[in-house]
Amino acid sequence: MSKKKLLSLLAVCALTFSLTACGGSKETGTGTTAGNSKQTTTDTSKDTAKAEKPKVGVTIYKFDDNFMSFVRRAIETTAKDKAELILNDSQNSQATQNEQVDMMISKGAKVLAINLVDPQAAPSIISKAQAAKLPVVFFNKEPSAEAMKSYDKTWYVGTTSAESGIIQGKIVADSWKANAKFDKNKDGKIQYVLLKGEPGHPDAEARTKYVIDEVVKQGIQVEQLELQTGMWDTVKGKDLMDAWLAKHGDKIEYVIANNDAMALGAVQSLKAAGYFANDKFMPVVGVDAIPDALEQIKSGMMVGTVLNDAKNQGKATVDLSINAALGKDILDGTQWKLDENKAVRVPYVAVTKDNISVGEEAYK
Ligand code: GAL
Ligand code: CA
Repeated sequence: MSKKKLLSLLAVCALTFSLTACGGSKETGTGTTAGNSKQTTTDTSKDTAKAEKPKVGVTIYKFDDNFMSFVRRAIETTAKDKAELILNDSQNSQATQNEQVDMMISKGAKVLAINLVDPQAAPSIISKAQAAKLPVVFFNKEPSAEAMKSYDKTWYVGTTSAESGIIQGKIVADSWKANAKFDKNKDGKIQYVLLKGEPGHPDAEARTKYVIDEVVKQGIQVEQLELQTGMWDTVKGKDLMDAWLAKHGDKIEYVIANNDAMALGAVQSLKAAGYFANDKFMPVVGVDAIPDALEQIKSGMMVGTVLNDAKNQGKATVDLSINAALGKDILDGTQWKLDENKAVRVPYVAVTKDNISVGEEAYK
């Protein structure tokens, strides 16, 4: 770290008079570190080119999230040569994220690209941005329509959450219809367990509702044996599946997971219980199409997943952020379109063994 940067950091610490703001808030990356506050500034430009490379202040709700690590990679790849990133790991704490936003503003960020920790926290981030006259691009966790409307310099990059549930429901219905043996007790109903993402997260809520709506719409009856949150997490998914297998055993006929990370945890649990060998089988579906899940699909341990296009969501986030920072039209020179909520929505795609390359391409 340069002397100048160190001095300005110390000045901020002194100003905020808070140890947590300087020591506890973790800005992580591959570059310089100050105390235990890790922080990266990715800038390979000469000083003269700096005007062209706006400072983009980014937060990821937690680096330790499988899918978000791919979005982060896409952000870094897209920003290379085009922007100077200040990249923060909010470590699943909204308070930490709020401090990071203050810090990025004081460091001269020209735009904020925010993956909220708490989807309800958009208004507080918006008021910070507004006070600093900065644009803000939210991504992955969609703020309410009301929050989006409250400030003209706010945009969102993500998906249409319901779409992932509908596509997942189609995968479940198609596989059920094609495999009579899935109905172990022959009652014509799917006895399912559902691993839910973070409660209150628009993706988790929509996937949980629409996957079942779609299965029912396809004329299949369902019976829910269990539904609990695994917080998008593999270990939690495995622990829940262990408990459910102990309780219900072979009464479970389908495992529906709001994301692949939890589906992978369920697969681990099922393997340990003797599934996927000697004719013992359990259909498992997820969402995201992360590489580990694609491997499971290839080897027959997951029926399918839904591509959540990390690459394009990361790219759109940076494209919009740079335009906003430079005061250009938000879509200038890009392939993206905005809907009536100022949102870019990257489409989901069904992925099964038949089109595995679609997933592989998106995560290259
Ligand atoms: C979802 C994704 C999950 C998780 C979550 C974090 O879109 O499917 O795996 O990463 O975002 O907000
Ligand atoms: Ca049944």
